[in-house]
Amino acid sequence: MRALSRKWSSRRPALLAAVLLGAAMLVHTFAIAAPARAAVPATAAAAAAEKAAMLPPGTAIASAHGLATDAGFEIIRAGGNAFDAAVAVSAVLSVVEPISSGIGGGGFFLLHEGRSGRDVFVDARETAPAAATPAAYLDAQGELDRDRATNGPWSAGIPGLPAALVHVAAEYGQLPLATSLAPAIRIARQGFPVYERLERGYASRRAVMERYRGTREVFLADGDPPKVGELLVQPDLARTLELLAEHGFDGFYRGEVAAKLLAAVAEEGGQWRADELAGYRVRERAPLAFGYRDWNIVTAPPPSSGGVALAQILQILEGWDLAALDEPTRIHLVSEAMRRAYRDRTIYLGDPDFVKMPLARLTSAGYAAGLRAGIHPQKATPSALLSGEVAPLEDDETTHFSIIDAHGNRASVTQTVNLLYGSGMVAPGTGVLLNNEMDDFALKPGTPNAFGVMGFAANAVAPGKRMLSSMTPTFMTSPDRVVAVGAPGGSRIITQVLLAILAYDAGMSPPQVAALPRFHHQWMPDAISAEPGALAPATVEALQAMGHKVNAGESDWGNLQTVQWDRKAGTLSGGSDPRREGGKAAVEPVSAGD
Ligand code: DON
Repeated sequence: MRALSRKWSSRRPALLAAVLLGAAMLVHTFAIAAPARAAVPATAAAAAAEKAAMLPPGTAIASAHGLATDAGFEIIRAGGNAFDAAVAVSAVLSVVEPISSGIGGGGFFLLHEGRSGRDVFVDARETAPAAATPAAYLDAQGELDRDRATNGPWSAGIPGLPAALVHVAAEYGQLPLATSLAPAIRIARQGFPVYERLERGYASRRAVMERYRGTREVFLADGDPPKVGELLVQPDLARTLELLAEHGFDGFYRGEVAAKLLAAVAEEGGQWRADELAGYRVRERAPLAFGYRDWNIVTAPPPSSGGVALAQILQILEGWDLAALDEPTRIHLVSEAMRRAYRDRTIYLGDPDFVKMPLARLTSAGYAAGLRAGIHPQKATPSALLSGEVAPLEDDETTHFSIIDAHGNRASVTQTVNLLYGSGMVAPGTGVLLNNEMDDFALKPGTPNAFGVMGFAANAVAPGKRMLSSMTPTFMTSPDRVVAVGAPGGSRIITQVLLAILAYDAGMSPPQVAALPRFHHQWMPDAISAEPGALAPATVEALQAMGHKVNAGESDWGNLQTVQWDRKAGTLSGGSDPRREGGKAAVEPVSAGD
């Protein structure tokens, strides 16, 4: 048995811990303005000033953990751009938020290059191992084996996030990967203070996590789980990140780390092959883009369902002046649009490398107009089938961060290990907590997954296939404003981003958008879910009178992180979801490359 890697702080509520904790627990939201510019007569100076006005006055970063946001600024100050910062923020989140994401998982990086104006979507979604046939997930009665689907080696797809870090640094960054990974390596080695979400999440997954030797080695100290204020030190994860920094792709997908991952999966009864790791590739895809009122929306294409759903919902809603409607009617119409988009998600969407999807039709204005015509202005449309199951609440799993730098580069990144602490299984000697993303496949067609969403053939499991996602990293631009936004929340990610778009369109600021109460409809179960206080009692009654089932007052969900550049005002600002402790949105008047 290895020495315990977690250090107690019971005798020494270490100064470092206190400082880090203080930094991490503060939720900052503020804005900076461009420095006042003196009138300059010279043409060259005037041109320079004009160009400066076209660029953000610094960098804005919003993420779910203060240490990750700070690491992003550290890298910008070291001469990096938004993409180097994205690598740093992503890697630090993998260290300090194992509850949500990690290098044993995957994610989507939506990037915008300021200079060229190009948008690209880096798909680092996990892939299914060949052994993961549909039959492998059924129990003796032919029912979905939920334990296999969500816990341990069979629930894990081949990780994509390490490949994304290597790819984004090499293709878009200005700094060596080793520089951008340095903050994550340092924090993994020195430790960070355990916070409440981590402790609470561990308690809810404890029974599963402690099945696995590697997990016990990382998270238990003298047999006890992590407690608030202690330092969580992860030397194996530091070493794995170092190997990634030194050897790039091969540092994770071949050699020592790969061998340990394969051995761990085999030890726990799973089946991964060396060529499945070595053969993993990120995919660069064209983002999905469409217009909504004054906004150009650039967002996630399949294998995310988010962009398609947003395109449908927003184009349906464009037929009404939402601001002019009373609240019950507005929520009724938005819910009906959500219902229709989630129905199509269920039927049509999957991995574009494997399935043909009618994307042009699904995202067309004409199709949206047809759907809109089927919405009764005052009556709920019953969903075609009623699953009878209430969708579980989502909390802290998955994480999003948003960055805009002084060159107008931007990154909107959502990354995940799926459910709390993913599969619960750490591969011994690597510090890598494996995801449980396989549950995002329709492992048994028509059977809802952990988010209460189901699927059919388009999202059936197949070797090398990517499971359908709801992660929706998004940019929105108008003549005046540029926004990056995204959130965790499983199937509720899409509707959070939708409500954020509607809120920005209504003129709200990033902190207001992050705090906005949420509601959600996902076709099945056939009900509107709402956070406490999101709907006034009179609105709930009015919706019920229209035929809606309303689950008002569910616990809250999401952890939205957003930044905005107001081109007209020359300001940057950010908003970090006030529902969760530890997030940080901040702005620094520094230029990449300064
Ligand atoms: O890709 C997806 O849609 C899910 N695996 C995301 C999971 C998630 O957001 C969990 N959140 N609370």
